[in-house]
This record gives sequence, structure tokens and C-alpha cells, in this order.
Amino acid sequence: MSHSSELIAEDIEQYLKAHEHKGLLRFITCGSVDDGKSTLIGRLLFESKLLFEDQLAAIEADSKKFGTQGSEIDFALLVDGLAAEREQGITIDVAYRFFSTDKRKFIVADTPGHEQYTRNMVTGASTADAAILMVDARHGILTQTRRHSFLMSLIGLRHVVVAVNKMDLVDYSQARFEEIVEEYHELARELGLGEITFIPMSALKGDNVIEHSSRMPWYHGTTLMGYLETVEVDDERLQRAPFRLPVQWVNRPNLDFRGFSGMVTSGVVRPGDAIRVQPSGKASTVKRIYTYDGDLDEAVAGQSITLLLEDEIDISRGDVISGVEQPAHTADQFETTLVWMHDKPLLPGRPYLMKLGTQVVSATVTAIKYQINVNTLEHAAAKQLELNGIGICTLGLDRAVAFDAYKESQDTGGFILIDRLTNNTVGAGMLHFALRRSQNIHMQHMDIDKQARALAKGQKPAVLWLTGLSGAGKSSVANLVEKKLHAAGQHTYLLDGDNVRHGLNRDLGFTDADRVENIRRVAEVAKLMADAGLIVLTAFISPFRSERQLARDLMGDEFIEIFVDTPLEVAEERDPKGLYKKARRGELKNFTGIDSPYEAPEDPELRVDTSRMSVEEAADMIMTTLRERGIIG
Ligand code: ADX
Repeated sequence: MSHSSELIAEDIEQYLKAHEHKGLLRFITCGSVDDGKSTLIGRLLFESKLLFEDQLAAIEADSKKFGTQGSEIDFALLVDGLAAEREQGITIDVAYRFFSTDKRKFIVADTPGHEQYTRNMVTGASTADAAILMVDARHGILTQTRRHSFLMSLIGLRHVVVAVNKMDLVDYSQARFEEIVEEYHELARELGLGEITFIPMSALKGDNVIEHSSRMPWYHGTTLMGYLETVEVDDERLQRAPFRLPVQWVNRPNLDFRGFSGMVTSGVVRPGDAIRVQPSGKASTVKRIYTYDGDLDEAVAGQSITLLLEDEIDISRGDVISGVEQPAHTADQFETTLVWMHDKPLLPGRPYLMKLGTQVVSATVTAIKYQINVNTLEHAAAKQLELNGIGICTLGLDRAVAFDAYKESQDTGGFILIDRLTNNTVGAGMLHFALRRSQNIHMQHMDIDKQARALAKGQKPAVLWLTGLSGAGKSSVANLVEKKLHAAGQHTYLLDGDNVRHGLNRDLGFTDADRVENIRRVAEVAKLMADAGLIVLTAFISPFRSERQLARDLMGDEFIEIFVDTPLEVAEERDPKGLYKKARRGELKNFTGIDSPYEAPEDPELRVDTSRMSVEEAADMIMTTLRERGIIG
């Protein structure tokens, strides 16, 4: 059953290649701290002879010294030792281990069980074919068991083994085992989990792990290894699914060759097949399936290929090529489940990059419908999602994408969100279904455009975006600049924080989430005003880089960011509305600069500091910049 290979020690990639003919099973183990997960993995590695001689000797010595198992080998020491090494400095820590038997090769993702590791489990499970859920026979179904089961149902894991471990500590009792089976069945029904296999086990003593246990003659099912070696892997299922090829790149070495390369994520394709390209909806027929090893008569899920089509149609990276009978869908608004993976919370209205297959688009959460408590599965209202938070959210994209519902296809229905400024992965999610809110709303063509409107006013539109602390002098400077522009015959409008918050944004306060929404609306209004041909001035703290970037993206080169860079001490000293004093006394929460952050611009078009220059001088500097940029004459 087990075998050893020196290649594994030297080069895992090489090893996996050499064993390509064998199926690969990826699985995840989960459970709470003391339920024997490490012992089980240690035993699987040990039995498949994957421990190296020196590791083994060290473990034997350590087992005698620190182990909890007398003179027997404490497998847990092995796994815990490896994990501890990896934990330093790694935030998303999923320990992957490899082993193989004569039938299959395996990759096991071992994820810690605490609630703060929710994102690790989601990361580990997202590529898994199966999960082993460890349950301590003495304790039965615990909060952790519920949480892990919920996450498995969320991720859509199709094969779940409930390993009822430590049967040796309940005298190998059939009654106890059946009690747990029954209890778990109820939970599985509630969560809609699919196929579940229950195995009574002792990882420590080896019962039903590799060999059938003589101590539980009442159990006639499979051993854990028997299960892992035979459970259907996703490859087989994926080949029966409709054809999908997310285009990774357009391969055009010369004028006569134009191929679309990528990995087939599901289904089968053959020359002559009718295809459809999404989101454009264009149709064609497969001419050739090209690979470096020659043309193919057929390509299946998992293969990387280049498709050549009969027709010259426009296809770009990120498009999805589908079989014509069941093509991918397209939409730009969705209901999704979102798992938040970053210390900085998810804020509705903030733009993130969404990566869905090979497509990358700008996305904002338009609403959090509710958040799910992973322990109790209760729903609660939420304004933002914290690290490890899971929410049902609506998502709006800046353009339509090709997709499938996650339950149909993880490749074309699962996505990640990326922070636009740091490039960190901050969330992972699953698309449920498209929202058709804007389906019947098309952009209306207008004969009079921005240029025409601006021309009638004899000016160039612009948005002067003043940002800085409360009391920095934004409003005073903006007010004076507007006066000067007005005197010069320009058409202007000044959007000011305090004023807008009395009307349009009356419903918003000063939480991070509300500030994001405040600035999103102001940016949209400023865009409309610039579209009307105006020179727009805005005076908002606008404390976050992301939202100022959003405004910049909306406006393009008409956006001029002016950092009113007056130091906090000076602004606080001025305290025109007495708000700093209130904040210092603790009577005003979330005050910028005191207990709410201000992210200074890194590269503004202009910087003015009203502690070193008068309001008049600052306004003049801005007027000079406008002249230099050709906005005013
Ligand atoms: S922003 O952060 O969302 O851009 P905005 O510029 O609209 O803020 O509003 C800031 C003004 O609201 C401040 O100048 C101040 O007068 C007032 N204000 C009241 N509470 C706060 C607070 N907690 N933090 C900052 N400003 C506050």
C-alpha cells in the first residue's frame, strides 16, 4: 500500500510529474485542538513511509522526552513541530503535506481549528476534493464541528468524512459512535451537506486508519485510507460538466496564427464544436486544438491548450469560451457570500479588484444583507465585515463578466477580492446568482456632451479635491479660490463637507463605512458637475486613499488633488468648532486625527500648509497651478 520515493525528498514537483498517471486527491483535515488531527496526519505520513530517517530518529527521541504516549511514537510531535516552524511571520498559514500510496498521491492541507483561522480553512479547503472532520468520540459534536461543517458547506466540499476519533477512550462503543452519527446527520441536513461517510477510529492506536480494526467488529465500512484511495476526485465530475475555457492569453506569434490559451476548467472540447465567447456573446466553431506536443482530437478539464477558431472574432484575456449548448452567464451585479480575510475591514462602497477566473474587474460591495455568525449560524445586521467575517453581500462590478454560479463551478463562480493599493488578497467569495437590477437600464446617448457644455461656458472642467484634517483650512481655502475663479468669470461649484452632510448625506455619520459612502457619493456628484462643464471644488476630510483614488479614477486628468497639509497640532489649536476638545474629552468618537485615521496623500498634485502660509497665499498657489495646467487662462 505505501511506498517511499527519494524524489519526494528532493523535488516535490518532479515527484508529482513522475506520478502523473496516478490520481491526485487533495484533502483538508479540520477539527479542534486536541482531537488528534496531528496524530492522524503523522500516522498517514508514517505509514506511507514518508518520514525521513533523521526525522524519525528525532521523533522517537522526542516522543520519549516530551511525548504523551509513553514509549510509543507520538506522531503529533512531528506535525506540530513542522507547523511551529511555519507559523513565524506567516499570516495565512496552511500547512500542506504530500504523501502517496500505490493507488494515489495526496496533498493534505492542515488548518488550525480556532475561529481566528477561518480564512486559513477557507484557503485550504477551496482547492480540496474532500475533508476529514475530526470528532473526539468523548465530546461529540462541538461548536468547532458546527463551524467547520458550515465552512465546508459554504465552500461546497462534496466529500466529507466524519472521523470519530479516540474510540479507544470510549471502549470502542458502537452505541456512542451511532449517537454521534445521528447527531451529525441532523447538522448535515440543516447545512445541506452532501455525501458523508462516518468512520470510527483511533488515530493513536491505528484502528481503522489503514487496517480494519479487530476491536470494532461491528463496523463494516471502509478504513480511512481505503476511503481516501477510492473517493471520486473532482476531475471525473468536471469532465461531465459543460465546456469552459477561461482565456489566459491571446497567442498571436504571426498574422496567420491567432490562438486562445488557457486551462480547460470543465468539460470536453473537440474540433468542430460550436462555441460561444462571454461576456461578448460572439459565436464561432473550433478549428484546431493546439498544444506544444501537437494537435489534439479532444481536450478535457485540467488540460492547458490553445484553441484556434474558424472565425476572426475579438477575444481578449479574461473572456470565457463555452460550449454553445450551455454557455457561461454574464452579469455585472451579484448576490455573493464573502469571507473577509484582512485585518482592515471590508467597507461597502470601497472599490476592490475582483479576480474571477482570469478576469480582473473593479468591484464594490453595494450592500451587506447580513452577516453569519460561524458558531451559531445566526444572521445579524452588519455595516462592515471584520477579519474572518462572513457575509451575504451584493456586489457591483464596473463591467459585465462571464460567470457560473459557484455551486455549478468553483472555477468560474469563485472569486477573490484584492486591495487596489497594496495588492493584498483581502477576501474570497462565491457567486450565487446575478442581480438584474440594471439589466434594463442602458446608458442614454446625449447629444450635448461635456465638451459642448464646457465650451458654452468658455472653460475647461476640473475637480479640485481638497483633503486634510478638520480645521486644516480646506473650506476657507476652497472658498477663496472659488471667489477668485468667479471673479475671473469661471463657472464653479463648491461641495463642502459640513454642507453636504446637511442634505444629500444627512443619513451618514463618521464610522469608516459611512465616510467611504460619503466620499463615494461626493465623487459621483463631482463627476456629474464636471460633466456639466463646471470647475468643481470639494472640501472634505476624505481620510482614505482608496476613496480618493476612486474619485481620481472617475475623473481622469481633470482631477487635481490638493493636500491641505496643516499639522494636527495647529488644526487642534485652532479648533474652530470646539470638536477637538470634545474628542479629547471623549465626548466625540471617531474623530479624525484623534481616534480615526487620516491617510495622507502620497503624491498629490499640490500641497499647501496653512500654518506656514496665509489662506490668500494658499489660494494663489492653487490659481497658479490651474494656470500652469491650462485650466484657466
Ligand atoms: S469625511 O471624513 O467623511 O470626509 P467630512 O469632510 O464629510 O468628513 O466632514 C467633516 C466635518 O464634520 C468636520 O470638519 C467636522 O466639522 C465635522 N465632524 C463631526 N464629527 C466628526 C468626526 N468624528 N470626525 C471628523 N469630523 C467630524
